[in-house]
Amino acid sequence: MKTELKKKFSIVFHEECSHVFFAPGRINLIGEHTDYNGGFVFPCAITFGTYGAIRLRQDRKLRFFSENFASLDIIESHLDHLEYRKEDDWANYCKGVLLTLIKKGYPIPQGFDLYIYGNIPHGSGLSSSASLEVLVGTMCQALFHLDISMKDIALLAQQAENEYIGVNCGIMDQFIIAMGKENHAIALNTQTLDYTYTPIDLKDHVILIMNTCKERKLSDSKYNERRNECEQALKSLQKKAPIQQLCDLTVEKFDQISYVIEDPILLKRAKHAVYENERVKKAMIALQQDDLITFGQYMNQSHLSLKEDYEVTGIELDTLVEATWQQEGVLGARMTGAGFGGCAIALVKKDQVEQIQQAILTQYLDRIGYPCQFYVAAIGMGAGELA
Ligand code: GLA
Repeated sequence: MKTELKKKFSIVFHEECSHVFFAPGRINLIGEHTDYNGGFVFPCAITFGTYGAIRLRQDRKLRFFSENFASLDIIESHLDHLEYRKEDDWANYCKGVLLTLIKKGYPIPQGFDLYIYGNIPHGSGLSSSASLEVLVGTMCQALFHLDISMKDIALLAQQAENEYIGVNCGIMDQFIIAMGKENHAIALNTQTLDYTYTPIDLKDHVILIMNTCKERKLSDSKYNERRNECEQALKSLQKKAPIQQLCDLTVEKFDQISYVIEDPILLKRAKHAVYENERVKKAMIALQQDDLITFGQYMNQSHLSLKEDYEVTGIELDTLVEATWQQEGVLGARMTGAGFGGCAIALVKKDQVEQIQQAILTQYLDRIGYPCQFYVAAIGMGAGELA
């Protein structure tokens, strides 16, 4: 991959690149829409991701080229003019990170030429944008010798997504992409940012990623709306309990005081957050005890809660997950990430993967009218330079 990228870089920019970096995509095993409510998440990095070949320039110009958006050709920008421009399209994600770094006082003394190639399926909800953002942060850290930790790169990339792109996402995606470790998930407390690595050894099972192939962009989804709903529910609950975030509540406490939320929709949103947080903690214990059966049941419950209470699934994800539940050899399945299309994951018996995929595909095609796609997940490393 590295040699190939170097070659492609020189075709586009007529110079040799000096470094090649990689940042992964992610799946979340369980703990969905908890990260902006102060709860736990349990994601892992996958081996699909974003590659970047780079060469520093002597001036302050920036030139971006993506193989995935080759028809846009080279997008030019400048370190002194990093404001959002619609026509800069995907390059805005890079510019947002650069501007955020500069605003925080990190010195970015010179521009660069950057060649991007990503193999995260487009619009699949496996965090291609966070991957690109963390990639740029990681490159700047290395090439400009910035005194910034990987954890702070994650926070900075999240800030760029929130303020520059305008998606009010939580910290999960940027954190796992910056901090991921091969064959491990991260149990992350999003309130304190304390985390532990949990080895993932699924024995005779694998994680199957299932793509609805319903493209969606977070920026035009109901993501920000869900966040606002949680904030409103929190305000009501704060009349009865001294909490900072929804996930400060246990399920028992929530059930005692949830009557203060008058709006039935807001009640459902808050219920999901609190119950999902309890579920992710129990699911992490089940996995540590190698109890895959229980883990799978929590995955199923999580999906139902995201469908019925949080209402972020939709017909494509529901069809996919419900078809998966019917198959022999499946321990659990749920949507992963923000929802509204994108991907689901399932815990599947290794030697039955083929049959299971075929059966799901037939049902999905029949109901939705176009095929879904499958990938067996390999849990990879976080962002860094390719040796
Ligand atoms: C998106 C966001 C994350 C998180 C998930 C839902 O991936 O970027 O911060 O909120 O949705 O769990």
